[in-house]
Amino acid sequence: MSDSNVTASVNICVIGSGYVGLVAAVCFAEMGHHVVCVDNNEEKVAQLQRGETPIFEAHLPEMLVRHLNKGVKFTTDLAEGIHPAEAVFIAVGTPQGNTGAADLSYVEAVVSQIAQAMNGYKVLVEKSTVPVYTNEWITRCMHRHGVASDRFDIVSNPEFLREGTAVGDFLHPDRIVVGANNERSAELLRRIYAPLTDGSYYTQPGALEGPCSAEEPAKLVVTSAQSAEIIKHAANAFLAMKISFINAVANLAEAVEADIEDIALGMGLDARIGPRFLRAGLGYGGSCFPKDVAAFSWVAEQQGVDFHLLSEVRKINERQLDLFFEKIHSALWTLRGKKIAALGLAFKSDTDDIRDSPAIALIRRLLEAGVKVAAYDPAAMESAQRVLPASELLSYVADPYTAAEHADATVILTEWKQFAELDLNRMNRALKFPIMIDGRNLYSPAVMRDHGFTYVSVGRPAIYASTMGRPRKSTI
Ligand code: UDX
Ligand code: UDX
Repeated sequence: MSDSNVTASVNICVIGSGYVGLVAAVCFAEMGHHVVCVDNNEEKVAQLQRGETPIFEAHLPEMLVRHLNKGVKFTTDLAEGIHPAEAVFIAVGTPQGNTGAADLSYVEAVVSQIAQAMNGYKVLVEKSTVPVYTNEWITRCMHRHGVASDRFDIVSNPEFLREGTAVGDFLHPDRIVVGANNERSAELLRRIYAPLTDGSYYTQPGALEGPCSAEEPAKLVVTSAQSAEIIKHAANAFLAMKISFINAVANLAEAVEADIEDIALGMGLDARIGPRFLRAGLGYGGSCFPKDVAAFSWVAEQQGVDFHLLSEVRKINERQLDLFFEKIHSALWTLRGKKIAALGLAFKSDTDDIRDSPAIALIRRLLEAGVKVAAYDPAAMESAQRVLPASELLSYVADPYTAAEHADATVILTEWKQFAELDLNRMNRALKFPIMIDGRNLYSPAVMRDHGFTYVSVGRPAIYASTMGRPRKSTI
């Protein structure tokens, strides 16, 4: 890994400047490469050219400004990105289609445009999550546009970035997966990731700190393109399964008055299981898990493989939101005309992303039931208002305490740190009744009891404030 070729900078084009494309483009520049990032959204490109980050993502704004017009530039002109590039990363969206399968029409459109702009050998890299055999479809599409096989290769290089920690995940990855069907293209990807795999990035002044280091650099795994495509889907489906599993156990724990937090601790200390992704709550959301579980299910079905486990994962996840809604109903007796403080809109903390957010789905249901909702989120207010505009029933407020004013209950929907550190006395005073229904288990029931709350969480015995008797199940 030490020959000079390996650390040389590479000309890269990234197509798509969404969560994945933008993080990849800026991080490749941070690693010393020359990047042109192309997007067909003129407004977004203009914003990026001004050095403004359109998404909420730690470290990204500073890094973008540092490399803008040096290591990375932005354009709407695809040919400007393609011509100098040795590697073209495709990072356009792959949303869920009607059948559950990923809709690859953006990928196909981009590949057709790349074919027309080809001016020499290039490696096309699938960065978006795509189903197995997409590499073959891309190859076919290139051929249809008259590009000969010796002028390109397709590599699958899936991303494993979590929103909110995407820059750290990119520069300090658990692993880098390169799915290449020949050595020439694998070698280019090795060169691109060399600063992380030979550790040189971590000794660079101002390098982002994290778990990788010069002594323990990032690991790169080379597989076939098909295997890499499957690794991405299987990894996300497995994590979704872990969450659904703990949620199913949480429901059992609730039925027998056990505590899911203790159970998760006891399970997670087994190194074979591990503690992460064992947080029970109101279910997973986001732009990846729901769509990737559906797409992977579809892939299995297409191949005639029985993988019903994935349908169960999805069903448990959907049911989890129903159960949480029922908890709110049960705690409040009737819903119409009540006011609820909703803390959280994003699908998880540290992001402004509300795609497939359980919080948004739950608020919709509350509104349908005639509940007045005062909502607050530290980052996702703007994105939420685009899909759920303020109305007679729904207001967006400046902080959790304003949300709680004269409310019949508070519900916690997103695991923001700020919501785990509320001034509970102040919340208690603001609320009409001290009721909190916590979909993210951010508080200890004992602490809530001491602060006089009725506290209902997930997979743990509910606590009832002394003045408010425990409702009998039959009253629901
Ligand atoms: C990504 C991945 O692409 C998806 O496969 C993964 O599962 C989730 O994350 P993301 O980066 O979040 O998607 O997508 P999005 O924020 O929608 O960004 C896609 C970008 O591509 C947008 O900026 C859009 O304007 C751009 N685009 C789309 C193009 O430039 N050209 C197109 O033809 C289509
Ligand atoms: C995920 C994958 O983690 C990442 O590797 C992939 O590339 C993209 O999809 P992301 O969607 O950003 O990342 O979020 P993640 O942190 O995985 O959380 C997904 C959802 O699961 C969130 O709604 C979160 O609140 C929920 N979750 C997560 C739980 O309910 N319990 C947990 O223990 C962990």
